[in-house]
Amino acid sequence: MEYSKEFKIISKEDTKTLARRIASHLQLGDVVALYGELGTGKTFFTQKLCTFLGVTENVSSPGYVLMNEYTGRFPICHLDLYRLDSYEEVLELGLHDIFEQNLTIIEWAEKAELLLPEKVIHIRFEFADPYRIVKIQSYKNLSLGESLSK
Ligand SMILES: Nc1ncnc2c1ncn2[C@@H]1O[C@H](COP(=O)(O)OP(=O)(O)OP(=O)(O)O)[C@@H](O)[C@H]1O
Ligand SMILES: [Mg+2]
Repeated sequence: MEYSKEFKIISKEDTKTLARRIASHLQLGDVVALYGELGTGKTFFTQKLCTFLGVTENVSSPGYVLMNEYTGRFPICHLDLYRLDSYEEVLELGLHDIFEQNLTIIEWAEKAELLLPEKVIHIRFEFADPYRIVKIQSYKNLSLGESLSK
């Protein structure tokens, strides 16, 4: 991986700052793979990321729908794979085409780990009471700075 960095997140403002910085590096075809336990902030991060990518629609958790599509600077596909339990169901999504035509953001990306492209941006959220930690590994350099608070 070209870029690897870990940040402490102490507030929603930090998540927003992270989303703004990452958004500036994203292009059509990028795949943002999100990991982390329930409630660690994957959807909240996605909402902020979409805002900085020019989405004006309401961004919500795809839930039972599994997939939401938005239009920002480019087409955006937001997937949440939490409810998928078989590899066949994941295959049926046709991820290859989705990746090609969109900027793709995937919550619970571990469910599709084998199908992720080489050019992926992994973002892992963890609780580190009373904070959160985010670990980023990217195929391309993101130069996100040294901390989120400044
Ligand atoms: N940086 C943050 N600081 C404080 N609260 C946060 C932060 N990020 C998210 N939250 C809050 O935590 C709660 C859970 O966030 P969110 O729904 O984004 O988690 P999630 O990882 O998508 O969960 P799930 O796995 O259920 O989809 C929400 O109420 C959200 O507003
Ligand atoms: Mg979520």
